[in-house]
Amino acid sequence: MSNSSKRWVHRFIWVTAVVFVLAAPWPGGRLLAHAWDTEDCQGCHADLSILEDGGGYLYVDSARYERTAHAEVGCPSCHESVNEDHPDDGVRPSRAKCGECHDEVEAEYTESIHADNATCTDCHNPHEVKPVGQVSGAQMNRPCMECHEEDDVVASHEAWLSQTTRHIRALPCITCHTGSKVYVVTFYVGTFEERAGRSPRVALATHEELMAKAERSEGVTSVIDRDADGRVSVEELRLFYREGRAEGLQLWGMMTPEVATHNYATMDNRWDCSFCHASGPGVVQKSFVALPGPTGDYTRIPVEPGAVLDALYGTPDFYMIGATRSKTMSLIGLLIVAAGLMVPLVHGTLRLLTIRKRREH
Ligand code: HEC
Ligand code: HEC
Ligand code: HEC
Ligand code: HEC
Ligand code: HEC
Ligand code: HEC
Ligand code: HEC
Repeated sequence: MSNSSKRWVHRFIWVTAVVFVLAAPWPGGRLLAHAWDTEDCQGCHADLSILEDGGGYLYVDSARYERTAHAEVGCPSCHESVNEDHPDDGVRPSRAKCGECHDEVEAEYTESIHADNATCTDCHNPHEVKPVGQVSGAQMNRPCMECHEEDDVVASHEAWLSQTTRHIRALPCITCHTGSKVYVVTFYVGTFEERAGRSPRVALATHEELMAKAERSEGVTSVIDRDADGRVSVEELRLFYREGRAEGLQLWGMMTPEVATHNYATMDNRWDCSFCHASGPGVVQKSFVALPGPTGDYTRIPVEPGAVLDALYGTPDFYMIGATRSKTMSLIGLLIVAAGLMVPLVHGTLRLLTIRKRREH
């Protein structure tokens, strides 16, 4: 054998050995035999035919999944144990624990009063996660409502919270039940329909409904951000209100946390109406308009600071009583209350002082 053909035989033996090691059927030895990637998985799990025969729970909506931060992670990272013979091997693939990557959230949640009541996946579908800014307040409440009936919540909160339905509509549950630090006001576009003799029917406007009114080429944000400068001025809000009314559109304000926390509790200071209805808290200075995209997630556009306080012109449908309170007005209010109290006080004192005189008569 020549030197060069010897070298080829050597190479052949090496390559065969490496292939054998990589492809052998022992753990970790499946690299060449089969490397699953997300596309393989989606071939079956994102195909509508998997819905047949009660396979609804097997379906992963790929359009939604691709837009999540979890798409970067990829299916096989969270379902490591999927075998070459899947799904015929009868082995149920492993499912990653959320805490492997979200240890801080897990630690915070485990300590909360709610930890025994629901797990991460009761509130989150791992294939459709979104950051808090892309979720509407109503969407935030959806998991809560799976276990807490709205009627029950209204009934139990009515005992101390006036305008209960209005509050529950304007505040996601987590605004009062977690200790998030910063709150913002987020406006959603709603549609309303006048009904004779009844209150108007209101719903969140869909992407399609808004696109019908938007400049198609400019996208959905042009319904309100007319000059496309990436922010909404008080003037643009005012225009939206004026023209929107006629077209059956309205802005719904919600006070939402800027960053979601998971330290579930019943926050003591939420009994205190002034936590929200106080003069000029930072919370209502910062606001956004959130517009729905084609797959149901929201894009937020910042609103000119302080616009929410301009209730008269900027946001006539959203009025945080107390938020516009001025020191002078409070003082005048206090004087009126004090004067009101003075009447019975002075009257009572006079009666007491004159009691002997009156008895004598
Ligand atoms: C050839 C089609 C096919 C491919 C490819 C496929 N699956 Fe499956 N998968 C199925 C079917 C069918 C089932 C239901 C099996 C059963 O009920 O025993 C299933 C079950 C599962 C389950 C378990 C559901 C449960 O019962 O909890 C997970 C998780 C899963 N697949 C993930 C994956 C991942 C991740 C990939 C890619 C690495 C993948 N699958 C590739 C068809 C497929
Ligand atoms: C970030 C981690 C993560 C990623 C990425 C992920 N999954 Fe999952 N998946 C999970 C978890 C956790 C569960 C269990 C959910 C539960 O218990 O309700 C699950 C459940 C499933 C199920 C079964 C549904 C059920 O109700 O048990 C299927 C099928 C599945 N995943 C397929 C996929 C496919 C296909 C992909 C990629 C397109 C994927 N997963 C990506 C974490 C992930
Ligand atoms: C393999 C790692 C991994 C696992 C396991 C995992 N996640 Fe994530 N998750 C991420 C990454 C990376 C992000 C991107 C944002 C970040 O870094 O927090 C993310 C973001 C999120 C978000 C916010 C969405 C966003 O765009 O900011 C939610 C909600 C979430 N995960 C929930 C879960 C839940 C619930 C589970 C368990 C079912 C889970 N995750 C399991 C890696 C993971
Ligand atoms: C009782 C319901 C509930 C449970 C249980 C829960 N979450 Fe959340 N989580 C929410 C809500 C509501 C939000 C706000 C955004 C949204 O609705 O998606 C959120 C937001 C998040 C975010 C995004 C934070 C941000 O500011 O963008 C992450 C990450 C997250 N959750 C992870 C987890 C993990 C991990 C677990 C389990 C340890 C968990 N969650 C348990 C309700 C819950
Ligand atoms: C999987 C079911 C489930 C989900 C989802 C869920 N909860 Fe609960 N929650 C419970 C149960 C069970 C209890 C204990 C019984 C009760 O008070 O109703 C509870 C109790 C509570 C309590 C009272 C805690 C106490 O002990 O004082 C609050 C507040 C609460 N939940 C808020 C929420 C919020 C906010 C959400 C949504 C982000 C949510 N829950 C989602 C099941 C759930
Ligand atoms: C304005 C603030 C606020 C909002 C919004 C709010 N809660 Fe509460 N909630 C409270 C306070 C304060 C208590 C304590 C009341 C008590 O102990 O009587 C409470 C008590 C509870 C309890 C325990 C008492 C009971 O009803 O069994 C549950 C469960 C609960 N809330 C769930 C919810 C859910 C679900 C939502 C969203 C639909 C929500 N809350 C919205 C402030 C709020
Ligand atoms: C966590 C924040 C928060 C707390 C706590 C809170 N509110 Fe509110 N309140 C709001 C928001 C947000 C609105 C909705 C404004 C809108 O939609 O116009 C509102 C609306 C109202 C309205 C209706 C205003 C109108 O224009 O009709 C009244 C009245 C009210 N609150 C009284 C109270 C009282 C009384 C308390 C204490 C028992 C209280 N609120 C506690 C946030 C809060």
